[in-house]
Amino acid sequence: MKKRLLDKIRDRSLTVGVLGLGYVGLPLIAGFGEKKVKTIGYDINKEKVAMLKKGRSYITDISDAELKAVLPYFKPTTTVKDLNAADAILICVPTPLRKTKEPDIRFIMAALDIIKQLDYKGKLIVLESTTYPGTTEEILLPALEMSGKYKVGKDFFLSFSPERVDPGNKRYNIKNTTKVVGGVTKQCTQVSKELYEIAIESVHPVSSTRVAETVKLLENIYRSVNIGLINEMAQLCHRMDIDIWKVIEAASTKPYGFMPFYPGPGLGGHCIPLDPFYLSWKAKAYDFNTRFIELAGEVNGSMPYFVVDLLGEVLNKYKKSINGSTILIMGVAYKEDIDDTRESPAIDIIRLIEKKGGNVKYHDPYVEKLNVGSKVYSNISLTKVQLAKADIVLLITAHSNVDYKMLKDSKRPVLDTRNGMKKFRSKNIFTF
Ligand SMILES: NC(=O)c1ccc[n+]([C@@H]2O[C@H](COP(=O)([O-])OP(=O)(O)OC[C@H]3O[C@@H](n4cnc5c(N)ncnc54)[C@H](O)[C@@H]3O)[C@@H](O)[C@H]2O)c1
Repeated sequence: MKKRLLDKIRDRSLTVGVLGLGYVGLPLIAGFGEKKVKTIGYDINKEKVAMLKKGRSYITDISDAELKAVLPYFKPTTTVKDLNAADAILICVPTPLRKTKEPDIRFIMAALDIIKQLDYKGKLIVLESTTYPGTTEEILLPALEMSGKYKVGKDFFLSFSPERVDPGNKRYNIKNTTKVVGGVTKQCTQVSKELYEIAIESVHPVSSTRVAETVKLLENIYRSVNIGLINEMAQLCHRMDIDIWKVIEAASTKPYGFMPFYPGPGLGGHCIPLDPFYLSWKAKAYDFNTRFIELAGEVNGSMPYFVVDLLGEVLNKYKKSINGSTILIMGVAYKEDIDDTRESPAIDIIRLIEKKGGNVKYHDPYVEKLNVGSKVYSNISLTKVQLAKADIVLLITAHSNVDYKMLKDSKRPVLDTRNGMKKFRSKNIFTF
């Protein structure tokens, strides 16, 4: 089985199946397609699959042109049995958190049910979704070996390989970001490594699926904790009237031992706010309290409240209050130059402003509609008229294609939570 699969990998005659065609799955399709490897992409979302068939991408990192270029090798489908033709299946389904901050792995379970409907003899199955250490060997492995028919490493291959894609990052993409892989057995690791080497410049094998699972969590916890630290520094510096941005700029001149992280209005996206809690949940089973994760979650979670307090402070300088003011929010995506609003701090901030009686409008060149509870907000154009109507502008996400000079020239008070207006600092621009 191993030789057959390796031969197909080596002569590029294999077909790669991707289960879940989102921010993670679609770039993988593009990566293998670029190497002229056949791919089958299965998703339960009929609209997404219909768009892909027409060569229309819904992910900002994959252009329509890039998608069209790989379409000759790519079969988008909503039919499970089409995945039978795949030699490898990469699982890229969501892994959300429950409200109680417990892992919600129902999408992984659904993916597993799909794979069990296939004949997976001879196939490589790789879990790419971020999850707690042990998921691959405690959940996937027993389910796939359950019938007693197939043995891992012999009849089929099973690995974990964390996805490190950073949407909107112009420098690093799936091709030039090292891929970590850990298999259940050495054979599993070897076939996974060779598979990814087709599309990715460098692959780093590790000794087990649990190591690979923990790598991803460490990376995201590292970010969450450091962002938490700098957010706390920002709150303190504000109280002490010290410019945090200048502090970071100067500290960054140290060539070793310091890596800059920047404060902001709160964490967002599908990863950093959620993933760390996958580990803290699992740690409880080992009677271990992950204090850094909890503390970072607490500090980062307090940022929307801090921002709304600051908003009130700034309006106060103009003898106004949040209640009754029109607040124009700039940027509602969770980070710059992307259209993703999942877990965006803008949503919490809008909710808090609404509660205080503020009237919110937003401009975001990437986001046409934004749901906040039961209310749907629509993007407005950034015009002099709209700016004149605003009592204050609240910069939450600093997209690079926004006319910040126009903002400055409007002379409206601006509360800038990203230092996006650093070139235009003036007395009406406020920050942490
Ligand atoms: N978005 C990122 O930047 C990023 C980065 C690294 C890792 N991750 C991780 O990768 C995983 C996927 O994230 P994403 O951002 O691509 O999510 P996504 O929501 O963009 O895409 C997931 C896709 O899976 C599909 N899906 C759901 N259930 C399915 C099923 N049973 N069968 C087939 N398809 C199904 C959905 O319709 C959707 O298209 C998550 O675990 C996430 O934590 C995401």
